[in-house]
Amino acid sequence: MELQRLDKIIASTGRWSRREAKELVRRGLVTVDGAAAGSVEEKFDPEEAEIAVNGEAIGYRRYTWIMLNKPAGVLSATEDGRGKTVLDLLPRELQKRELFPVGRLDKDTEGLLLLTNEGVLAHALLSPKRHVDKVYYARAAGRLTEEDCLAFAAGLSLEDGLRCLPAKLEILSAGEESEARVTLREGKFHQVKRMLAARGKPVVYLERIQMGTLPLDRGLSRGAFRFLTEEEVAELRALV
Ligand code: URA
Repeated sequence: MELQRLDKIIASTGRWSRREAKELVRRGLVTVDGAAAGSVEEKFDPEEAEIAVNGEAIGYRRYTWIMLNKPAGVLSATEDGRGKTVLDLLPRELQKRELFPVGRLDKDTEGLLLLTNEGVLAHALLSPKRHVDKVYYARAAGRLTEEDCLAFAAGLSLEDGLRCLPAKLEILSAGEESEARVTLREGKFHQVKRMLAARGKPVVYLERIQMGTLPLDRGLSRGAFRFLTEEEVAELRALV
């Protein structure tokens, strides 16, 4: 891999800023292949060099994978003149890493959103051919019934003629307002909202709670993020 400055490599872990990396080096806390690093300007191959801070390997990864618990009111875009985007929720060091959302959630939808800079895997996960499950918790106006579940399972036709793939609707509670778990194998624009609207039960709240094998980490408060573990990224890879 191409050589990179030491501060850039250390900051790429998301655990330290470049300024902090510089300070760590100055204090003699960074080693490269067992020897104390002299300057952050030195360049190394991050996949070959063994870089440690305080004796602990930094765990360099070529690509960044992040799970964000998206709050309502932010856009799943990388830049938008009209408002705050999910990237604005990340620290500056991470904003520089050319991350993009893996699929979109509507501005008012909350929950699990993956961000990465690994284009090939991200696109494979989104490919209509792969049918990676996306699971949502929805609250809808009106009483959901078994007929709604059957209609979802059969594959709904929407107003504009879009024929949806069979999907799973599991009713969690039914009343004037109902709660449900919806599992889709595709991701068309406003799909959950359009499917429930087609049944006359418009969505009043929507949260994505799972993507493929990955459930939303309930330890993350709204607006918070964490890095995926190596095992989680491997599980995503295995899906495609
Ligand atoms: N379906 C929707 O209608 N909106 C989302 O944000 C995601 C799925």
